[in-house]
Amino acid sequence: MSTSGAYVYFAATSSIAEHVARCHAKRGVAMVLVGRQADRLDAVAADLKARGALSVDVVVADLADCTKHEVMIADMIRRFGRIELALVAQGVLQDHDELMHNAEAVVHGFHLNATSVISVVHTLAVHMLPNGGGTIGVLSSVAGDRGRKTLFAYCAAKAAVTAFCDGLRMRLHGTGVHVVTIKPGVIRTPMTAGRKIAPISSSVEAAARIIERILDGSRSSVYVPWFWRPIMFVVRHLPEGLIRRSGF
Ligand SMILES: NC(=O)c1ccc[n+]([C@@H]2O[C@H](COP(=O)([O-])OP(=O)(O)OC[C@H]3O[C@@H](n4cnc5c(N)ncnc54)[C@H](OP(=O)(O)O)[C@@H]3O)[C@@H](O)[C@H]2O)c1
Repeated sequence: MSTSGAYVYFAATSSIAEHVARCHAKRGVAMVLVGRQADRLDAVAADLKARGALSVDVVVADLADCTKHEVMIADMIRRFGRIELALVAQGVLQDHDELMHNAEAVVHGFHLNATSVISVVHTLAVHMLPNGGGTIGVLSSVAGDRGRKTLFAYCAAKAAVTAFCDGLRMRLHGTGVHVVTIKPGVIRTPMTAGRKIAPISSSVEAAARIIERILDGSRSSVYVPWFWRPIMFVVRHLPEGLIRRSGF
């Protein structure tokens, strides 16, 4: 058991989460990996141990099942005393041409990308409050800054996550629980592989190093890398007709 509290990664097989965990492993902390594929989690755990983690526990869970979040997080607190840092990373980028014909899939995607994330973040906050505080990093996206025709459902879910995290952070100000909204631009991971992506993209290694620094600080809502802030400022203020015609 670590005296400083555990580092917990929700969707630890996510390329971004795994690379952030690699950065953290050298700190010699106790880590918990949550995800739905036991064999992949075990492989990540072995790698993190080799990189210096004090201990790595694996929790196999389908994070879309929000009814399990309470018990799962209460168990972690019982075992480790406190959660010092959590990174919430589950997500799916669906084919939006297919979504035009499938309302059920729209709802399913929104549930994972928004509802399950909100449920994990809320449950973490409730348990961290009486247990020494901690940091909750949430992988939202620049996509949440403006609805777009090519990613309308994904944008809506990320907008919900961003608004929830921004509001909860203000609500928790001064309590010792810090929620940080992380808004990556395009990062080269399995999620974006083989897709038409923006001309600007970042490596997952570079993004992970930035996210490691963000999680150590006290910033509230952060673009990864920084240059997405001015880009999204412009995108947010462009007239709808221009955005529509741009194919963006
Ligand atoms: N890559 C980008 O450009 C980018 C940009 C902005 C924001 N983001 C966000 O960053 C986060 C991580 O993305 P990534 O690029 O690292 O993608 P990724 O490698 O495809 O990771 C997605 C993760 O979500 C997990 N997941 C999906 N459904 C799940 C479920 N029901 N229960 C538990 N886990 C589930 C996947 O687990 P399995 O391995 O079991 O499928 C996988 O670990 C996502 O929230 C994404 O929206 C990514």
